[in-house]
Amino acid sequence: MLPNFPRKLYDVVAGAAGDEAERYHLLGCSVLEDAWLEAVKVHSQRPFLFLAENVFVYFMEAQVKSLVLRLRDHFPGAELVFDGWTPFFIWLGNRQLSSSKFAGLLRWGFWRGQEIEGWGEGIHMLGQWGFFDQPEPRMDPYRWMAPIFRLFKPMRIFHFQLGETAG
Ligand SMILES: C[S@@+](CC[C@H](N)C(=O)[O-])C[C@H]1O[C@@H](n2cnc3c(N)ncnc32)[C@H](O)[C@@H]1O
Repeated sequence: MLPNFPRKLYDVVAGAAGDEAERYHLLGCSVLEDAWLEAVKVHSQRPFLFLAENVFVYFMEAQVKSLVLRLRDHFPGAELVFDGWTPFFIWLGNRQLSSSKFAGLLRWGFWRGQEIEGWGEGIHMLGQWGFFDQPEPRMDPYRWMAPIFRLFKPMRIFHFQLGETAG
């Protein structure tokens, strides 16, 4: 489904880190800071695919928007894949967390991927899919949720192109 991207991976981490490897590097900073953009930019001759897994839900919409626009401006033509939750699911999650120390932790939800396209020129949704759309053995324990996820689409994966590749 996704094009063939080079296998050099960076994780931008705010907290815990795993082991680095030849093609796997950790950058110890917030994804909301500019420092990591410069570090990654040295590979600008190659295509970029950014993956954000279970991270954007913790940010305010303005923070995600600012990040998406900066990715578009620094890496024109890059692609971005992330999980997006509906506002109802964010509300439900916060309700569940309300009596814990994580109360109010979930912040950003949206109803339709087209909302993100409206954030700026060159932002195009290439696709979206649900966790249960394809057979996936790791999801088997949760398969009882599949009808709910298909009907209400509470969280999905979104794939965007950010701007056009120069030249
Ligand atoms: C729920 S975990 C998800 C981790 C992993 N992506 C996964 O799906 O298993 C949320 C992650 O977001 C990271 N995070 C939160 N705020 C961040 C920020 N401002 N910059 C970079 N990472 C952040 C945390 O360090 C944590 O690792």
